[in-house]
This record gives sequence, C-alpha cells and structure tokens, in this order.
Amino acid sequence: MTTEILREFDIKGFQEQLVHWFEEHQRDLPWRKTKDPYRIWVSEVMLQQTRVDTVIPYYNNFVHKFPTLQDLAFAEEQQVLKAWEGLGYYSRVRNLQTAVREVVEEYGGKVPDTKKEISQLKGVGPYTAGAVLSIAYNKPEPAVDGNVMRVISRILLIEEDIGKAKTRPIFESALTKLISQHKPSEFNQGLMELGALVCTPRSPGCLLCPVREHCRAYYVGKEKSLPIKEKKTKVKVKDMAAIVLRNQKGEVLIQRRPDTGLLAKLWQFPNIETTKSKKSEPDCLKDFISTELGMSVKIGEEVQKVEHVFSHLVWNITVYEGTVIEENQLNNEGTRWVDANSIESYPFPVSHQKIIEQQIRR
Ligand code: ADE
Repeated sequence: MTTEILREFDIKGFQEQLVHWFEEHQRDLPWRKTKDPYRIWVSEVMLQQTRVDTVIPYYNNFVHKFPTLQDLAFAEEQQVLKAWEGLGYYSRVRNLQTAVREVVEEYGGKVPDTKKEISQLKGVGPYTAGAVLSIAYNKPEPAVDGNVMRVISRILLIEEDIGKAKTRPIFESALTKLISQHKPSEFNQGLMELGALVCTPRSPGCLLCPVREHCRAYYVGKEKSLPIKEKKTKVKVKDMAAIVLRNQKGEVLIQRRPDTGLLAKLWQFPNIETTKSKKSEPDCLKDFISTELGMSVKIGEEVQKVEHVFSHLVWNITVYEGTVIEENQLNNEGTRWVDANSIESYPFPVSHQKIIEQQIRR
C-alpha cells in the first residue's frame, strides 16, 4: 500500500526542501529553545488540542512552576490543575502527571527513548510518542496529528476520510518511509510548521510553498478540497442551572467535580441539568441543595447566562443568586465555603470562571 503511495515520489528532494525551509523560516517558540524531553513532552501535550498562541503563556508558566520532571511528579495535583486552568481537556494534564510519576518510579526520572517504552506511559499515544522521540531524541518516528494529515493528504493526494481511526496508520506508514533519517526533528517540525504557516485549512499559500513541486494535490488543483473529512455527528446541548449561594459571612459555596469524567476534579458552583425538567429552574435548584446538602435556601434573581462549547457538547448555564436560610455542617470534603480571595486558588472550568469573573470579582 505505502510502496504504492510513494511510487515515483522524490523522497530525498522533498526531505531536503522541507528541512531547509524549516531551518530558515521556523518561528521562535519557547519549546524550540530546549531539547529537554520533559519540556518537549509538556509542549506537545499542550499543543494537541490548543493553538500555539494560546499555549505559549501556559507553557512558560508551567515550566516556571514545574521546571523539571521531578517537580511535576511531586507536585500537588490541584496545583497542577490550577496551572492548566483555561486550557481545557484536563485529562491531558492528569495523565501527564501520572506518566511522569511512572517515569520517576520505573525509569529513574529519564523519559524513555524507545517507542515501546514511551508508548506505555499514561496518555502517550502515537502522536506524542513520535513527537517526543523525534524532537527530543532525534529518532526517525512519525508524529501524525490533524495538521500533518492535512499537509500529507495534499502532498501525496490521499483521499481517505481523516476523521476515521483506520486512516491514521496510512499516514504513519507513509511517513515512516518519508521521514528524514538524519534530521527527523526538523522534518517533523517542518511538517507542523508548514501546516501552521503555509498549508493552512481553507486557503493554503501554495505560491509560497517550499515543497509545491512535490505536491500532487496542487498539481491536479485539489489542494482546497483536501483533506477529506466527513461531517461529525451533531453536538448535544445541555441546559443547566447553577447557583452562587452565599452564607451570612458572604462566602460562596463551591463543589469539587467527581474524580472521573468530564472536567474531573475541577471545582464548580453547585449546578444541575434542567434539559428535561418540567419544574422551574429555581425550584430544581432548591430541591437539589436541600437533598444533596441538607440546607434550606432562598433562590434569588437570575444573574447571568453562560454558554460553553466543548467538542461534542454545549452547556447553556443559567446562573442564579441565592442565600442560605439554614446552614448545615458540611461534612463532605468535596464541598466548601470560600471567600473572594481563596476562591482564586481553586481550579475551575472556563464556564465557571466566567461566573467568578462576574459574580465574585465585582
Ligand atoms: N503543533 C504541535 N506540535 C508543535 C510544535 N512542536 N511546534 C509548533 N506547533 C506544533
């Protein structure tokens, strides 16, 4: 199959032009100043679902707080989540901390440099493994993410649906043959850089492309219709009601989310799903607080609406104010009264940060 795809392709010429262009034109990015496998790993995990411009300040702050793999391994999980607050996809950082702990215990603190070992670490899939091995250890391993699939689908005119799981191995096996053996780091980063700066999704800058002469999609005028990606299933919409509940001291009630699932272990304002409820939102909130926390409360005005879009889900949150009439001793570790200062040290999802922004920091 791969032999077929690469037949009559000028592998050497492509490698040389791509690597040369990357060496001349790469952006000055903070993770390009290091070869420390731990830092490369952090950057690649951050970059997986997040844009470069967003990642830069998070990366700088993260390596400032946790400069070495050991610092991250021994850090408090809540502080690690706090440093990730706002980046989203929080399982990435929980897995990363689990994985660096494995590296400390099983590999004496040195990130393993073989595909087999590194791939066994928590959260390290084929992309992260390939990126760390090639960039930090200069091993000729492919690193295939969505951007690389876009670039290579055009170069090699691959017309498979890149949304399907079985498509990625086609790219991996082509790249295993295509990757430069003596400059795999520059080759892989060159593909990423080309995808970011030239071979962009909607209007690729083919006239400026350093490897245009190798591009089969350009040759047949299909560059804009590749890659092929079938439409995803529709996103779910979840209607919710949340409460900023205050006690006599003016503190507000926050709750820790469960240990697993979406936004695990982050903190939030008490809230419920109201999508299918026939009762009014204030009544739902009142019942919820009474059953879950044994407190009697007065629900006030609606004060805010927050919309948050995840990849497959939208949250529409209506926020209410409320005051406690009869307080109950909190015997649950996952529920706390906090004041306006101490709330800042807890990690919250972006949607609930918006509530803090408007209701607490006023
Ligand atoms: N996207 C994924 N990895 C990247 C990297 N190392 N540099 C720039 N963009 C990237």
